[in-house]
Amino acid sequence: MMQVIESVDSLGKIIRVARNKGEEIGFVPTMGALHDGHLALVKQCIEENDVSVVSIFVNPTQFNNKSDLENYPRTMDADLKLLEALGTNIVFTPAVSEMYPEPDNRTFNFGALSTVMEGEHRPGHFDGVAQIVSKLFNAVDPHKAYFGEKDFQQLAIIREMVRMLRYDVKIVPCPIIREKDGLAMSSRNTRLKSDARKSAPLIWKTLSLSCEMARKASIDEVKSQVISAINADPHLEVEYFEISGVKDLQPVREWGKPGENIGCIAVFAGDIRLIDNIIYC
Ligand code: PAJ
Repeated sequence: MMQVIESVDSLGKIIRVARNKGEEIGFVPTMGALHDGHLALVKQCIEENDVSVVSIFVNPTQFNNKSDLENYPRTMDADLKLLEALGTNIVFTPAVSEMYPEPDNRTFNFGALSTVMEGEHRPGHFDGVAQIVSKLFNAVDPHKAYFGEKDFQQLAIIREMVRMLRYDVKIVPCPIIREKDGLAMSSRNTRLKSDARKSAPLIWKTLSLSCEMARKASIDEVKSQVISAINADPHLEVEYFEISGVKDLQPVREWGKPGENIGCIAVFAGDIRLIDNIIYC
């Protein structure tokens, strides 16, 4: 039977009992509106652990845009059904007041990792992510936690947070799950207007094509090709496209070896902001 728990204290009691029995705790943090991308993480978590915990919490402190927070899709009943069908053990669904009984004013020094791309375009976003993930790690006390490579910079930030705060949690990266037409799955996809939805697969298509140019054309040439190919569609507008080192996420001027560079993109499809990335092989 899946348990749905709302309080940090009740969760803590259950986790302590499991840990005392020597059980491995796996954790998948989410903001709900679950799709197959989330469910792939959950499946892996269930396979690799004795106790699987999934959190569903739309974290207000990581939204730098009020209307994005207000319009974020919330589908709790459907989410719980999907998680139950997979065999999830525990779903943690705290209220905002449970996670933030008082304001969390912590800021984190992630150095150059947080000054590029999402960090640059969504001020305060990664402080909010680190605030909630650190609180969730304290509440769930997992051995392993699963994060998608779709949010590649978030994954790097979480690894850095684990190092800085000395959490004893193994971070497990999981590959991007896509729609049949290539669009990276995202809870925000359901908010795309029909024209924008039709255009959105061009993002992945263009990133895939850019792979064939890698190391044959210069970084600058590939960047401008990608940006102009996507901006040529009237329903899409690139916010940024960077080619960076996979480890430090800093922009590069020259190609590295296969696997060493990543192209990360943010695109407005109508009024919905989508992100995607590709590792150049
Ligand atoms: P959310 O966007 O709900 O994503 C939860 C997890 O699912 C993240 O690790 C994300 O990278 C992963 N994910 C989303 N779409 C995916 C896809 N198409 N393929 C593979 N993995 C995918 O990321 C967050 O929530 C929040 O920032 C959170 C970490 C929960 C903190 O609030």
